[in-house]
Amino acid sequence: MTDLLLTGIGELTTNTGDPIPEAAVKVTNGTVVFAGPEMDAPRLGGANHIDCQGRAVIPGMVDAHTHLVFGGDRADEFALKMGGAGYREIAASGGGILSTVRSTRTATEEQLFETAARRVRTMIAAGTTTVEIKSGYGLDTPTEVLLLRVARRIGEELPVTVKTTFLGAHTFPPEYSGDRAGYVDLVIEEMLPAAAPLADYCDVFVEDGAFSADEARRIFAAAKKRGLAARVHADQLTRSGGAALAAEIGAVSADHLDHATEADAESLARAGVVAVLVPGASYSLRSSQAPGPMLLDRDVTIALATDCNPGTSYFESMGLVISLAVVQMGLTTEQALFAATRGGALSLGLDDHGIIAPGSAGDFVVLDAPSSAHIPYRPGTNLVWKTVKDGVVVASRAASFGR
Ligand code: NIG
Ligand code: FE
Repeated sequence: MTDLLLTGIGELTTNTGDPIPEAAVKVTNGTVVFAGPEMDAPRLGGANHIDCQGRAVIPGMVDAHTHLVFGGDRADEFALKMGGAGYREIAASGGGILSTVRSTRTATEEQLFETAARRVRTMIAAGTTTVEIKSGYGLDTPTEVLLLRVARRIGEELPVTVKTTFLGAHTFPPEYSGDRAGYVDLVIEEMLPAAAPLADYCDVFVEDGAFSADEARRIFAAAKKRGLAARVHADQLTRSGGAALAAEIGAVSADHLDHATEADAESLARAGVVAVLVPGASYSLRSSQAPGPMLLDRDVTIALATDCNPGTSYFESMGLVISLAVVQMGLTTEQALFAATRGGALSLGLDDHGIIAPGSAGDFVVLDAPSSAHIPYRPGTNLVWKTVKDGVVVASRAASFGR
């Protein structure tokens, strides 16, 4: 039996009620058995003990939308965009997603695994304990399958829970530039059957310049038959109809939503679709943030994610995402923190993640700060002192806070 006992927690965010001051948490065999006021805590027993010395503890971050398995990078394109070039303009001239497809197709499995694993280790050190990983830079059957295999390996070899998403419909590969219907058929008839055993979800980039709502509807129907629920890249660059489609087909999530309207929000709320917002993408594209407060107002559950990808959002830190959500999107710290933990877990069907309560997974973060308010307030600083996964410390840094 392995136990971990944390005492001296200055502020414990459980996501099941108000934060608890002077708290303690105990984990046994990976599962939380106590979370509450320290004076009610079980005795030490033989547990590993961490005295948090007044630091805050929050649930482990759940990053519900990433594209982190890819070859190469696109720093040169980033510079062009900062100089005024448009994202879709670059994509239309063969750059963008297709540039990453070229460098991904020529990488080996070990190169893809190692570079992705490095990103995930950075994420873990920044407090992430669960991550969703999409394919989408292969756009042919063998490479899409390879990307999903690498994503699954990350979950097997690193201390992080991984959910995988097949995104063969990310854009049209050059081989099919004149044959949209042919590529949609390939996705449905060849890629999906090969990818489904390695995927938990199916995603489609519904956008002007990528897939239409009608093309996406066909792909999602085929995915459903193979047991894959839908996550949708929706209304990111234009109001493409992605949110409406997500509501219509009962997707588990509609992601991005920068251009979603109040009517879209009402449809998402009625259909119980989680809105996964990715403020890093809007920031890096210098576009306006998704309407987070409006979505919350309409009773939509929201999640926050990095969208980690080489083109629009090379973010690895959920803390920085929380800061953008508070400063630029207008969420409160409490709303942003909930979305970055519990919201992500709900979008991934992980009922026992994103909370700290008896029976929940022993995933949490000890901040190097006395309260979670420091996360948005001190952007760019890794405020994680320790990341705990299933009751085991998996990342630890020298502390600067102490009382
Ligand atoms: O989430 N929108 C589509 N996919 C990614 C960008 C991919 C890329 O540019 O490489 C996104 O923003
Ligand atoms: Fe994305």
